[in-house]
Order: sequence, then structure tokens, then C-alpha cells
Amino acid sequence: MNDTSRRVLVTGGAGFIGSHVVDAHLARGDQVWVVDDLSSGKRENVPEEAEFVEMDIADAGLRDLFRDVGFQLVSHHAAQVNVRISVDDPLLDAGVNVAGLLNVMEGAREARTDRVIYASSGGVVYGEPEQVPTPETAPKLPLSPYGVAKLAGEHYLHYYSEIHGIDYVALRYANVYGPRQDPHGEAGVVAIFSQRLIGEEELTIFGDGEQTRDYVFVKDVVSANLKATDLNIPSGGGLDAVAFNVGTGQATSVNRLADLLEEIAGIHPGRVYRAERLGELRHSTLDTGRFAEWGWAPHFTLRDGLRETFQFITDTGVPG
Ligand SMILES: NC(=O)c1ccc[n+]([C@@H]2O[C@H](COP(=O)([O-])OP(=O)(O)OC[C@H]3O[C@@H](n4cnc5c(N)ncnc54)[C@H](O)[C@@H]3O)[C@@H](O)[C@H]2O)c1
Repeated sequence: MNDTSRRVLVTGGAGFIGSHVVDAHLARGDQVWVVDDLSSGKRENVPEEAEFVEMDIADAGLRDLFRDVGFQLVSHHAAQVNVRISVDDPLLDAGVNVAGLLNVMEGAREARTDRVIYASSGGVVYGEPEQVPTPETAPKLPLSPYGVAKLAGEHYLHYYSEIHGIDYVALRYANVYGPRQDPHGEAGVVAIFSQRLIGEEELTIFGDGEQTRDYVFVKDVVSANLKATDLNIPSGGGLDAVAFNVGTGQATSVNRLADLLEEIAGIHPGRVYRAERLGELRHSTLDTGRFAEWGWAPHFTLRDGLRETFQFITDTGVPG
């Protein structure tokens, strides 16, 4: 512990991105609690130094934890993250992504938490954007219940900030990839391709493979989170003033991603092209210029990040 150490709650801290955020807060000397129901996260992702509480974020017990510990910072990463599940079962999605968030925020209100960092999604809140790379100020017209819930979360946080004085920063992530990712998240294709290449199996591509995404390495996402904990943003600027795109600004096609991973794996087992998936966005890349003005920029090249991810998956396999 040091002078600047804080009591930090990372919801979803047993998951892919949350567990990296936990590592970073521990490294800076914070006391860290993790609340996760292990629905997709893994207990082994949480280091011994963090207090682990297996709990649903919608559980009433969460409020007791807030009262007992008095968290100063909440990093809200727990979520139902699967777009397809949200389409099949919007109520289930909203139960976690809306009602769960509200339970966290009521806890934060009672405990007078200083700041909440919210994992939003630049891949879904803008819907099918007219402008690519997409700036924070673009229209927000999500096309899935998951996207609607993520955007609703930003509105709720804005309410808690204006009415109850809880600071927040929303980070609108692009497609995050890296060690510990599973195949079901927004950049699941990296894990899926890696796994197939390790098994020397051909890669399946939906559509012509020229659809593009903005792939951002998880270590860059962690530095964005740390940056967001210390930003001093004047209040009253509306939703987009406290939201930052977290991406690379670079569009990468699925074909290019497959090329890079094949190169890293050193094998070319072939590709099968299948019918385009309904409802899939054609292009999504984020304009990260505004966060750059506040001092954050990504540092990892796609090749370096993919190399590290591929090595990790080779060593440990991919979660089911
Ligand atoms: N991976 C991406 O590309 C990406 C992009 C944009 C936004 N995000 C957001 O980032 C956050 C983390 O995503 P991730 O990719 O690490 O996914 P993940 O599935 O690895 O992490 C989510 C974690 O939340 C936990 N969780 C789910 N429901 C819960 C509940 N009701 N109570 C307690 N814990 C619960 C899961 O067990 C898991 O550990 C999510 O909020 C997601 O919406 C991710």
C-alpha cells in the first residue's frame, strides 16, 4: 500500500479484460476486490492478492459489500457480453447489463464512491455508423439489445453523475483481443482462428472477409483504464464529454487478420468462405483522436499483440 492506493472493486474481474485491469490496479498498489459470478470468467484469472467474491452483480449482497468496504473506485466490467444471446433473450441481457449495473450504482451511491469506470462498447453503441473511423459524437443508434443496454448504461451513469455526484468515465472499447480472451466476445475471431491454426484446421470466414474491425490489444485497454482513473474532466458536458473511444483507428479486414495469424503460426491450412452472417456490421473502426488529446494512445502493433495472444493460446488453450 502507498499514499495513492485505493479500495477498488472490479466487477467481472475474473473475465478477460477485467482480470488484466485487476493486475494493473494491484501493480499500482491498490487494494482490489473482484465480484464475478464466474458465468464466463475463471477463478484462476484472479490473482491471490485480490479479494474474490463469487456473486451475481444483481444480488442484494453486493450492497452489503459496498457498505462494508466503501469502494473508492469501481471498474465495471461484468456483463453479459454475447450479442447473439442478447438478441435471443433481451430480458436476460438487460437483467445483467441494466439491472445489474443499477445495483452496482446504488451500492456506489450509498458508499459515496468517487468514480466509476464503465466498460462500454464502441463496436455496438454507434450501430452502423455513417462516419468511419467513428468519433464519440457520432449518432448512437445501437442495433442489438446488448448495444442498447450498453448505451443505457452510459445514460444511467450520466444521471448518477449529475444528480448524485458520482464521477464516471465510459470507455467505448473497439474489438479487444489478447491473452485470456474467449471465443464468445466481440473479438472472438482472434481466439477462434488461433485455435484452428494450432489444430492445423482450415479457417472459416463468413462473407467475403473484407468486413473490417478495429482490433485493440488488451494491454492498451488496461492503460486506457488507468488513464481514466485519473482524468479530471469538467462536468456538465453531456454523454460524449465523458466517453472515450478505445481502439487503434485502424481498419483490419478478416482476411488480413487471417493472413497475419497464419504468418505467426507458420501454417496455411486453407480457408472456407460461408454465407455472410445476418446483422453483422460491414465496417467498424473508432476515431481515438479525442482520447489522444487527453494523453492516451495505443502502443501495440496488431502483429505484436497477435503474436503474444497466439503464444498464450498455444500454451494454455482457449476457454470453452
Ligand atoms: N471483448 C471486447 O472486445 C469488448 C468490447 C467492448 C466492450 N466490452 C465490455 O468489456 C467488459 C468485459 O468483457 P470481456 O470481453 O472481458 O468479457 P468476459 O466475458 O471475459 O468478462 C465478463 C465477466 O463478467 C462476469 N459476469 C457476467 N455476468 C455477471 C453477473 N451477472 N454478475 C457477476 N459477474 C458477471 C463473467 O463471469 C466474466 O468474468 C464487458 O462489459 C463487455 O461488454 C468488451
